[in-house]
Formats: sequence, C-alpha cells, structure tokens
Amino acid sequence: MTEAPGLYVHLPYCRSRCGYCAFVVSTDESSRRDYLAALGREAEIVGPEAAGDLFDSLYLGGGTPSLVPPDELSELVAALRSRFSFAGDTEVTLEANPEDVTAERRDSWKRAGVNRVSLGVQSLEDAELAAVGRRHDAGGARRALDCLANSGLSLSADLILGLPEQTAGTFRSNVAGIAESGVEHVSIYLLEAEKSRAIEDDRRSRPERYLSDDDQADAWLEAGRALAERGFLHYEISNWARPGREARHNVKYWTRTPTLGLGVSAHELWGGRRRANSSQIPWYVSSLTQGRRPLALDRPVGPEEAERERIVLGLRLYDGVPNSEVDAWIAENGDPLLPEDYDRWFEAGVLEREDGRVRFTERGFLLSNEVLYRFV
Ligand SMILES: C[S@@+](CC[C@H](N)C(=O)[O-])C[C@H]1O[C@@H](n2cnc3c(N)ncnc32)[C@H](O)[C@@H]1O
Ligand code: SF4
Repeated sequence: MTEAPGLYVHLPYCRSRCGYCAFVVSTDESSRRDYLAALGREAEIVGPEAAGDLFDSLYLGGGTPSLVPPDELSELVAALRSRFSFAGDTEVTLEANPEDVTAERRDSWKRAGVNRVSLGVQSLEDAELAAVGRRHDAGGARRALDCLANSGLSLSADLILGLPEQTAGTFRSNVAGIAESGVEHVSIYLLEAEKSRAIEDDRRSRPERYLSDDDQADAWLEAGRALAERGFLHYEISNWARPGREARHNVKYWTRTPTLGLGVSAHELWGGRRRANSSQIPWYVSSLTQGRRPLALDRPVGPEEAERERIVLGLRLYDGVPNSEVDAWIAENGDPLLPEDYDRWFEAGVLEREDGRVRFTERGFLLSNEVLYRFV
C-alpha cells in the first residue's frame, strides 16, 4: 500500500437527479465555467500546503464528471498538475455515466491523462434503471462497457443491490454481466433507501417491488461467490478487484492516508485535520472569488479519535486491523458490554483472527454496521 497522498475533486453537475441519490449535485449547469475557475483558485490556495508532497492518485468524482466538456476537463487536469506534484504512475480516475461514453470522449479523456474510469452502471435491466430515473438503458450500459473495456483504461463498474423491480435472478445476471464485461473492479452498493424520501415511501407502500433484507443478504453473498469464481478479490466491504486493481485512491480513505479534497462538499484529511467545503455552489464560487476556501468543517483529529478511525475504517478492508490495536481500544473503552460482545462476534463467525489481525468474515461484512457502531 502506498503512503503518498491523493487528491479528490468534486464535479457536481448532472443532467437530472436519479431517484436514490443524495450526493451534492446540481442540474443547473449555468455556473459550470465559474465553478471550474473557482476550482483553479482553490488549487492555487491549497497547492502551497502540499509543496514537497508527491501525489499518486487524482479522483474526479461527482456528480457527473463525464458531463464536463473534454476540453474543460483537460484544462482542469492541467491546472491541477501545475499546482500539485504527481508521480509518473498516478492513478487518475474519472466517474462516468454510460450515456456520456463515446469513443471520441474516451480518447479525449485519455489525452487529458485519465487512466481509470468508474462507470455508474447500477443495473443491466431496463425496468430497474427506469424505476430510479437513470438516463441509460441496459443496451446503453453494455455499449459503454464495450467502448471502455480493453481500451487501455482501467475499468470499474458500480452496481446497486436493492433497486425497485430487482429480483434475486436479475441481480445475479447483473453481476455475471458485469464480471464478464472486461471490468477489473466492481463496486456493489446496497441501496440506501433512506437517502431518498421517494424511494423510502415507495418501499413502504409497494414492498413487493423490493427484495427483502434477507433476500438482499443472500444475493450479496452469492454475488461475492460469483465474483470470486471469476478471479475478483473482495478487498473492501463494497469493492472487488482483480489482483493489483484495487482503487488506489479509495484505499487511502480506509487506511487514513492523507488526501486533499477540492470542490463543493469535498472532504479531506490533511496535516492531522479533517476539513470539508461548503455544499453550496454559489457560496463556494463567491468565497473563492474573494480568495478564501469555503470551509464548513475544520478540526483537528486527536490521537484517540485517530485510533478509533483506524479501527473502524480498517475493518472495512479484507485485511482488517492488528489484534493489538483492537484489544488496546477495548481495554481502554468505557463500554462495559463491548469485551463480551467482541468475544461473541468471533464465536458467531462475524469476526475472525488470522496472522495477528482481526477482520470480518464474508457473512460478517453483512453485519458490519452493527459491529462498527460500537466503536464509535
Ligand atoms: C457519486 S455517485 C456518482 C456516479 C455517477 N454520476 C453515476 O450516476 O453513475 C457514485 C455511486 O454511488 C452509488 N450511490 C449513489 N446513491 C446511492 C444510494 N442511495 N444507495 C446506494 N448507492 C448509491 C451509485 O452506485 C453511484 O454510481
Ligand atoms: S447517481 Fe450520478 S447521475 Fe444520478 S444524481 Fe447522483 S451523481 Fe448525478
């Protein structure tokens, strides 16, 4: 694992908002040029803090970064390269929506320095995609996968488990379709229904459209087996990769490697502080026009909090965390029930120990929220 820092840049524009999404996005693109200029100013302000640091990942996330015209994207990457130092083999990821993928755009992304695309497929079933307002259908997703696979870009795809209209059978074929599409990395997210009032209400009034929690759990375990059979390693709760194709940038979040974050709502861990920008585009732009970062959060992380983060974030990874760190935490922690529960999680096969480390079992990952919240 690398210790070099990473840089995240948030590009918040989307053509429309999908039914389940609670990310900071805007469907009004009129501010895009001002926003990109503000990003350039933010890079200018933050760059000196990272003088002497050699970054080895750049993540262009959203929103829909693939919606930004390629020449503007290329200018942005060049501006970032002029303010920060990047290693020669830097992982440069672009989040893309299938409807934006064409051979021409793909080639201009590559010319801009992008070498990894994270494609928001979500599903390969028309009914599931339509149910959450995605702008692509299954054919569009397949065309995008075909265009990007084996094109010299490293390719990742996102799927969601728990979409309306999804069955165990359709999810199984979504996973098989993705695994055989040429991707080297797969993220499977459980639908967070509570992020959208409309989905939450729909799930309550029309439960027959949704897999039950138990069926989702079975489907998730089956997906893991199917991916493992095809050579993907389950390296983090929601992520599978061919060996060596783990998302370098995202691994930094789980290992508490320093990252900077530019753009609205971007978070960072830098110099022992957690900081986050405002989520308001107008404020972001006006604040940077006046030469200030619009920080909505800026606080130091003390040693105790850092230790807790190391455990809670580290347990998300297949590699887990050293036994000694968890034992020390439990010994010093005020929760009188934790030591007993901790033993019980091993007896119940939720956690396991190997080579001096503790980690979740495959089935244990499903219960990880219940375990991790006890360390908070
Ligand atoms: C920042 S989003 C944007 C990616 C891109 N704009 C797209 O739509 O494909 C990254 C991923 O988060 C996941 N996601 C977003 N909202 C979610 C939710 N409510 N529950 C589960 N996964 C979600 C989706 O899989 C999505 O591809
Ligand atoms: S899922 Fe992607 S395209 Fe849809 S609203 Fe969220 S960021 Fe935008």
